[in-house]
Amino acid sequence: MPQRATVSPPDVIVLGAGLVGLACAAALSERSLRVLLIGESRAGEASPAAAGMLAPSLEPAAAAAHRFALAARDKYPEYLARLAERTGSSIATVRGGILQVALSESSAETQRRALGHEGVWIHAGELALAEPALSHAAGATHHPRDGAVDNVGLIAALERLLELDPLVTRTRGHAVGIALGLSRIGIILDDGSRLEADWLVLAAGAWAGTLDGMPRAVPIEPVRGQMISLAGTPVRHVIYGPSGYLVPRGRETLVGATMERAGFDSSLTPEGRAILSDAAREICPALAGPVVRHWSGLRPMTPDGQPIIGPDPEFPRLIYACGHSRHGVLLAPLSGDCVGALVTGEGVTLDLTPFRIERLA
Ligand code: GLY
Repeated sequence: MPQRATVSPPDVIVLGAGLVGLACAAALSERSLRVLLIGESRAGEASPAAAGMLAPSLEPAAAAAHRFALAARDKYPEYLARLAERTGSSIATVRGGILQVALSESSAETQRRALGHEGVWIHAGELALAEPALSHAAGATHHPRDGAVDNVGLIAALERLLELDPLVTRTRGHAVGIALGLSRIGIILDDGSRLEADWLVLAAGAWAGTLDGMPRAVPIEPVRGQMISLAGTPVRHVIYGPSGYLVPRGRETLVGATMERAGFDSSLTPEGRAILSDAAREICPALAGPVVRHWSGLRPMTPDGQPIIGPDPEFPRLIYACGHSRHGVLLAPLSGDCVGALVTGEGVTLDLTPFRIERLA
């Protein structure tokens, strides 16, 4: 997205131009606020690296956080339709639900006992009809409303939307600190320059905890996820298995993902590649071909795996929208909407209590 000169002082600075930052900028501008979006490309950024899973039903969170995740998923069809209307971009999705496969009779039994409120058990024969490449499996839990979105296409569409938007300016500066005042908030860039606005939305992903001048610790740790892709799409659904998941996209199947605490190191390892190849073959033996691509991203993990969304208790003009852990793609559009509503004061109907930063003190 090309940089434009700032035409007027912004109302809001959004720090971070991953999916959450882009969604926040879009939601703020939709509410007629002038937005300065600050974000540079960084090695290891999570948004383009993700597989785009929309999977609130897998390992569901506690009640209020789960309701939020379901609402985030159910917002997607309309969000994508509106984005397509406004930008002309059509964003691919994998519909038809997620199949959580059981590869042994004992896992099948465990899954049948824990179906959750949307899960439906599919026995082995039915599964083989729906997905012939999984005919070795003992069955699967079908999560019919989950799926995946092409996150790379979504990023491109949001960037296009913001590029066309006269209320949004983007700069690719590297922020190193913030300076909090009661009515204005400043951002200090690494070249020493300072940008100011009435509001700051902190959407800096894995880097959200690294800024100087924060009023409190933002406990976000980068957790590396390596991914590979394999040629061909022997499965039509998103498949979740015991040691990885498969997402068909275009002519490839994406395979994810490792969980590694390696700080901000986004390097790729032969061990990571081997773990993912093995996971793919275990779930779907037809995926035995060579690795086409291998990449990684740094998840912004909080200690409880839930995002931080909402105002700082002492400096309410600082709004957190970070720490989306393993669900950044799922939660980005709804997080953006909540941030828009918080800044305009229109009120958020969903319960954001589980996402307060105070819980992590
Ligand atoms: N969102 C999938 C993962 O964290 O691997």
